[in-house]
Amino acid sequence: MPTALVTGASRGIGRAIARRFAADGYDVAVNYRSSEAAALEVVDSIEDETDGAAIAVQADIGDDDAVEACVETTVDAFGSLDHVVNNAGINQHRYTPDLSPDDFRRVMNVNVAGTFAVTKAALPHLEESTVAECPSVINLSSRLAHAGADYEPHYASSKVGIIGLTKSHALEFGPTIRVNAIAPGYIETDMTDATTSEEEKEQKRQEVIPVGRLGKPEDIGQAAAYLRDASFVTGETLNVNGGQRMQ
Ligand SMILES: NC(=O)c1ccc[n+]([C@@H]2O[C@H](COP(=O)([O-])OP(=O)(O)OC[C@H]3O[C@@H](n4cnc5c(N)ncnc54)[C@H](OP(=O)(O)O)[C@@H]3O)[C@@H](O)[C@H]2O)c1
Repeated sequence: MPTALVTGASRGIGRAIARRFAADGYDVAVNYRSSEAAALEVVDSIEDETDGAAIAVQADIGDDDAVEACVETTVDAFGSLDHVVNNAGINQHRYTPDLSPDDFRRVMNVNVAGTFAVTKAALPHLEESTVAECPSVINLSSRLAHAGADYEPHYASSKVGIIGLTKSHALEFGPTIRVNAIAPGYIETDMTDATTSEEEKEQKRQEVIPVGRLGKPEDIGQAAAYLRDASFVTGETLNVNGGQRMQ
């Protein structure tokens, strides 16, 4: 079976991507930082509902040694690595006067340097992949990379960085490996629940998002499956936001 590593797959968008890849016939490594029980629940759900295998792999994506070990554990378990989804990310709702340079660096370290580190560790294995659709890397950017974000300047900056990294790696790794990004709009997960009231959600549904609903993690799972299979697409950022921001 072809294989994929999804970082930050214990919850939210990463969980949906891992489950979608498994449903599509992939063995999946479910990376997590601290939510072991949730990651094991994802593994169990994959093994119950699909023919594929899954493993939970603990690693802090901000830690280079842990990243190396995570990739090696994945390859040892499955024998190959065909796709990487760099989904793990953190945010923090803080206005610049209350944001320290260390806060800024911490978000950049996980979101951008962590994405770089996972891709670099996976590179030799992706180069050896023989999957028909061409091995790929899919990075999670955000609508806020384009729009900016008050209270989240470090987060928005990190998501711009992801787009630069995606294009650069698409140039460096072609034609062997494709590299794309997804820029989700508002997706209901723990990350967004932490900063949005029910009134704000209703306003987004009614006035802000043309399709009239909030995004679901499965919407991003579908986008990731498209980019995984789209053998003539590389260096792209796919906007998945219900029309909230059209380009
Ligand atoms: N939700 C949205 O509306 C939205 C919009 C645009 C972009 N995004 C991006 O989509 C991605 C997923 O977002 P989400 O809303 O699903 O987030 P979430 O609900 O907060 O889940 C975050 C996931 O990332 C993991 N994680 C966090 N820090 C990690 C680290 N240092 N090492 C390894 N894993 C780590 C968490 O693991 P633990 O459970 O172990 O902590 C969890 O599985 C992020 O990159 C985010 O920036 C989200």
